[in-house]
Amino acid sequence: MHVKKAVIPAAGLGTRFLPATKAMAKEMLPIVDKPTIQFIVEEALKSGIEDILIVTGKAKRPIEDHFDANIELEMNLKEKGKTDLLALVEETTDVNLHFIRQSHPRGLGHAVLQARAFVGNEPFVVMLGDDLMDDKVPLTKQLMNDYEKTHASTIAVMRVPHEDTSKYGIINPGEEVEKGLFNVKNFVEKPKPEEAPSDLAIIGRYLLTPEIFDILDDQKPGAGGEIQLTDAIDTLNKTQRVFAQEFTGTRSDVGDKFGFMTTSIQYGLTHPEIKDKLKDYIIQLGKELDGNKPKKAK
Ligand code: UTP
Repeated sequence: MHVKKAVIPAAGLGTRFLPATKAMAKEMLPIVDKPTIQFIVEEALKSGIEDILIVTGKAKRPIEDHFDANIELEMNLKEKGKTDLLALVEETTDVNLHFIRQSHPRGLGHAVLQARAFVGNEPFVVMLGDDLMDDKVPLTKQLMNDYEKTHASTIAVMRVPHEDTSKYGIINPGEEVEKGLFNVKNFVEKPKPEEAPSDLAIIGRYLLTPEIFDILDDQKPGAGGEIQLTDAIDTLNKTQRVFAQEFTGTRSDVGDKFGFMTTSIQYGLTHPEIKDKLKDYIIQLGKELDGNKPKKAK
């Protein structure tokens, strides 16, 4: 069976971005001019995903509106002959999107459980809006290619600095069955560096078999009092094989303020409308900051 469905959990509280996220979904914060969730939807489509379910929560209406037609705006742009802007507005409406609400943010595992009826008895991918991935082959497609060979769940992982293991789910890798594809002995949520079994951290793309839902249904809250997807995957790994695929492309953590800023600058430097001005500005800023450096004593 091929993978055709994706689930994008977008019901978290986004506390790291308060107050911006008090009344607005963090997935709508734009990188220059594009909401982060649009990058995720584009990765899904480029990978060949046909149906996408977005799990929304409180204050997530703008996500639904963003992927819906806005007739008034389209008419206005048409009348003014702004065809380039019209194309940008229309490109988000031609997607097979579905929405479901997670009434209380009980954790990522609980958000994924809301997708049970949508997914049915098929393998599917989970894509987190916080993580923007860039590689020649989209990471979701890499996991789908693995599935064609293994017919097993595969979790994307990436090497992180050892002192950062307590921010991630970390795998205890077994044998490397082919380059970058590991068997996994077990998964540990946010271990302290001295207890971490490796530096391979779970990042925001998962390909899962539907057996995960029975496990999530029984899953007790774990780290932070939340129903953790990592804990459910660890249980799944005890009854069927779960692999980890190492990602070697570029990952941008836009759920974090600093990551959001650097990603915005990187993207801005490729944006046809602003790249030259932004580059000049950064060079100028660099000179000014350099000029402010305390002079070395002779
Ligand atoms: P995060 O750990 O980034 O949590 O969730 P968060 O609440 O969104 O953000 P902070 O840490 O408070 O700033 C990872 C992903 O899981 C989703 C989030 O929307 C995010 O995409 N999520 C998390 C849910 O959909 N529901 C939940 O109950 C928790």
